[in-house]
Amino acid sequence: MSEQPVGVFDSGVGGLSVLREIRHLLPAESLLYVADSGFVPYGEKPPELIIERSCWIADFLLSRGAKALVLACNTATAAAVGELRARYGVPIVGMEPAVKPATLATQTGVVGVLATTGTLRSARFAALLDRFAGSVKVVTQPCPGLVECIERGELDSDYLTQLLLGYTQPLLEAGCDTLILGCTHYPFLKPVLQRLLPGHIRLIDTGAAVARQLRNQLQRFDLLAQGPARPEQFWSSGDIQQLQQVLPILWGESAPAVQALER
Ligand code: SIN
Repeated sequence: MSEQPVGVFDSGVGGLSVLREIRHLLPAESLLYVADSGFVPYGEKPPELIIERSCWIADFLLSRGAKALVLACNTATAAAVGELRARYGVPIVGMEPAVKPATLATQTGVVGVLATTGTLRSARFAALLDRFAGSVKVVTQPCPGLVECIERGELDSDYLTQLLLGYTQPLLEAGCDTLILGCTHYPFLKPVLQRLLPGHIRLIDTGAAVARQLRNQLQRFDLLAQGPARPEQFWSSGDIQQLQQVLPILWGESAPAVQALER
């Protein structure tokens, strides 16, 4: 048993989609969340920069007593999880696009992946396809611009709708019936996607699976917290005021005050 916190981070607000699953599954855990908003989006940035940022944030979270880390960002996981696991002796849980569940769910045998350029270009994603795609055709679609909309709390604008229609049309034309949301920002777009897409299209993300994986890791090392629910703490390396305005939309009115993280 351990009362120490769990450290969670993302390039920005996307990781909140994972944090809410962790909060739901593990109410007794104290959760520290870092939004690296000063460097968002990670999706088009070089892996070297993402590794540097991830190590910097991991050092910060560990200095606050984190007993485990969650990289609630697909792009950061693809670039940096190996380096973090080599450097730090705490359990580290990362994201990966849900290729395996999607290949099991598809009826048409065609699956689409919406993700960042960084994730789709990574060796980790190529290995995931080699391992799980089998006879299923996997069609990938990089989605520049979506993360920026979500960072602004823009979840249903005309501009966003045009982007989404442009990104999903090639996947529908290819025969996809299952779309993987391969970036932690995208689950916030589920309502608008469900409105725009035909009813038979299934959307899959991995937030709940990552929360379960974290619970398993904490159990394994006897690190689970017990007792009453504990509040979250948020930091950002970017514009605190903008984040504070967006949090009620993405996290709810109970969101704590965001603290500034010196970069
Ligand atoms: C980004 O910062 O571009 C997206 C983060 C992610 O891949 O989850």
